[in-house]
Amino acid sequence: MQLTEATLQSGGDILALTTAAGERLRFHAVWLRDNAQEDWARDPGNGQKLTTLADLPKDCRLSDATLEGKSVTVTFAADDRKARFDGDWLAAHAYDRPQPREAGRLPEGAKAWDNALSDDLPSSDLAALQDRGEALRSWLAALRRYGVAKVTGLRKEPGALFDVVDLFGHVRETNYGRHFEVRTEVNPVNLAYTGLGLQAHTDNPYRDPQPTVQVLCCLENSAEGGDSMVVDGFAAARRLQQEDPRGFDLLSQHCARFSYTGSAGVALHARRPLIELSPDGVLQAVRFNARSAAPFTDVPFDRMADYYAAYRRFAAIIDDEAMQVRFKLAPGEGFVVDNTRVLHARKGYSGSGTRWLQGCYADKDGILSTLAALEGAAA
Ligand code: FE2
Repeated sequence: MQLTEATLQSGGDILALTTAAGERLRFHAVWLRDNAQEDWARDPGNGQKLTTLADLPKDCRLSDATLEGKSVTVTFAADDRKARFDGDWLAAHAYDRPQPREAGRLPEGAKAWDNALSDDLPSSDLAALQDRGEALRSWLAALRRYGVAKVTGLRKEPGALFDVVDLFGHVRETNYGRHFEVRTEVNPVNLAYTGLGLQAHTDNPYRDPQPTVQVLCCLENSAEGGDSMVVDGFAAARRLQQEDPRGFDLLSQHCARFSYTGSAGVALHARRPLIELSPDGVLQAVRFNARSAAPFTDVPFDRMADYYAAYRRFAAIIDDEAMQVRFKLAPGEGFVVDNTRVLHARKGYSGSGTRWLQGCYADKDGILSTLAALEGAAA
């Protein structure tokens, strides 16, 4: 980005730049000092900062700013240190622009979806993903965008789900172990013991932090029915916001509680909202798991009735088939969900046969980091 003008304002507190496109961008001297890219400020190898906040000059002002084509060099008054900034870097990191604040915005790169995604559910073959090239980049990008992706071509053996986690990160072990079995023998002589359906949910909301990724892989699925189903929690939250803005506010502004005490020596408790927003309104997480909900005690008495009305409306949206994508996993197939966003469920099944899935948890930072590294390599 070509820079056409650099001036100091407020006695050197502020650098004001004009770009060739006519945009005016201001930067504070203290911000520039803290983000200096020079060798005295950052380790040239790993890029980490070498200075602490206490090292910033107390009176952090600029005494000079000189343009050199696409860059600007500033001088800090306290010690005459100089730092050069590239115009493109400054334009990419500018904060002197209108910043959205509306609640319920999707995170960068995410796209809300409903039943219409059924025909386009992202899916890739494990062998192609293991080449760690374009197929993996595009599959991980789909996970970032939709929070769900299928994988096919897995070994039809116990433990095959770890091949999926190896694509982007590490298993997150819990008190349920390194993985867990989701196995039901359907009893053909007593249909009363058929597999019940489960309402769509996110897993383990009683942990803090909760596992941010779940992997489920199929080893056997000969039972009739037993479809998997996923719902975009962000789309459900945004629909609630449209239909009932106050209900959305109630679910995002008050904490729910979740707990699990089902095994000896385990007492997991978490206090988090059903719809979590960042301070500037971006959707961060949806937690929905009625089976694990503990008594809500953080909603004021005079709002509890409305809170429950919103909670029930949110549940009805999640249960609406228009929001759901259904698919049946065959042995050797699996799927990955962003457990901070996408709810999953099992539909009821019946008749003879067996349904055997293995599941495990992992974390989303591995997905985003592997994707960013692949995108960086492709750039
Ligand atoms: Fe689950």
